[in-house]
Order: sequence, then structure tokens, then C-alpha cells
Amino acid sequence: MRFDVLTLFPDMVRGPLEHSILGRALAAGRLEVGVHDIRAHGIGRHRVVDDTPYGGGSGMVMRVDVLDAAIAAVRRPDSRVVLMDPAGARFDQAAARRLAAVPHLVLVCGHYEGVDGRVREHLVDEALSIGDYVLTGGELAALVVLDAVARLVPGVLGNPDSLAEESFSGDDPRLLEAPCYTRPATWRGWSVPEVLLSGHHARIAAWRRERALALTRRVRPDRLAGPPAPAEE
Ligand code: ADE
Repeated sequence: MRFDVLTLFPDMVRGPLEHSILGRALAAGRLEVGVHDIRAHGIGRHRVVDDTPYGGGSGMVMRVDVLDAAIAAVRRPDSRVVLMDPAGARFDQAAARRLAAVPHLVLVCGHYEGVDGRVREHLVDEALSIGDYVLTGGELAALVVLDAVARLVPGVLGNPDSLAEESFSGDDPRLLEAPCYTRPATWRGWSVPEVLLSGHHARIAAWRRERALALTRRVRPDRLAGPPAPAEE
């Protein structure tokens, strides 16, 4: 899978891609990521990328002509082009799965007060928000989307079995994952739950499911408001 990120701050995007699982997947050629400076498509000698808003208001707005050129330079017939936007649809694990099936994902990072409305209306396929808060720009949001999508691409994770067991996946995607533990079995008097040391697989599975349900009820009751998962019916 290929990603192209369009940004005014390429170094902000490149840094995190050098490390850990994404760094290894890139080095192994399992993913391709291009990071492109939108300013290369800026207007005139000063490479201007923004202007004052029509109708007044504070701050600067990123220009549609500049973003049109930046997107055109990377778009392919099989691309999905996504604008990172706090006013976009909420990004979640289902969206990550949907985007992981796309051969080419283009992530457009907004900055300043906003992006000319015609970009969202005419130049991108969708706009996504990573949550109900406003970041200084789309770069961190694009990295969140890139990371969540890339780890679903076959061959990126060392142990793909873990995908089935984690939160928002598996038998009941409404549930948060139960906590996990490793050695030492006791530390400062804090013991690992007995059942996990029992070797009794059925009891361990039942315990994990119960803990996942209790945790979800406590911290994310909203996730249980929907219809029950098929496994529960
Ligand atoms: N740009 C600024 N805030 C954002 C958010 N919450 N999600 C996506 N892009 C953003």
C-alpha cells in the first residue's frame, strides 16, 4: 500500500515514520510513504499558500489553487484522497479497515485557520477528524490515520494474530480489551489475577470476556448502547 502525505511541515510527518513498526515496514518495502511539501505549489516567488478569508474573520485560509496543484501531483486513478479536518467524520477502527483496502491513500493536512471550502467540496473524497478537539494542524491527525491503517496492511505487523484480539475487533468489536499481565506474578503485593496462571483456557477466555465487558461498562458505556454483537445473540 502507498500513502502520500501533503503538508506544510514535512519534517513533522517524516520523523515518526522512522521508528518502530512503521519504520521497519518502510525499510522492508511493505509500505511506501511519500511526504510532500505543499509550499512547492505555492504562488509566486514567495510560494504563498494562504490568504485572508472572504467575508472577514481572523487568521489565514489555505488556497484552493495551491491544494489543487498539490493533490494533482500525487493523485492516481485508484487514489482515495482524505482531508484531515476537525469538522470531518469521526475516524475509527471501521474507517481504518475500510481505508486499509485502498491501494493508494492521500492524506491532506490543513493548517492556519482552515482550508478553502472548495477543497472539501471538489478535490477530496472525504474529510476525517480524529476526535472532538482542535489540533494546530492536520499533521498529527494524518499520522494517527496512517499508523492505524498501515498496521492493518498484511505483513506490517510481526504477529497478525493480535489483530483479532484487540479492542474494536474480534468477536465483539464493542468491547475494550481486557488488561494483560506478565512476570513477575507479584510485585509490591500486586498479584496477577489467579485465573491467568491456571492454564485453563476456557476459564481464561471467560475471565477476559467478563473483564472486557466490565471495563467497557465503566469507561465507555456509549459503546454498549448499540446492537449486541452476533457472538452474544
Ligand atoms: N486538524 C486539526 N484538528 C484536527 C482533528 N481533530 N482531526 C483531524 N484534523 C485536524
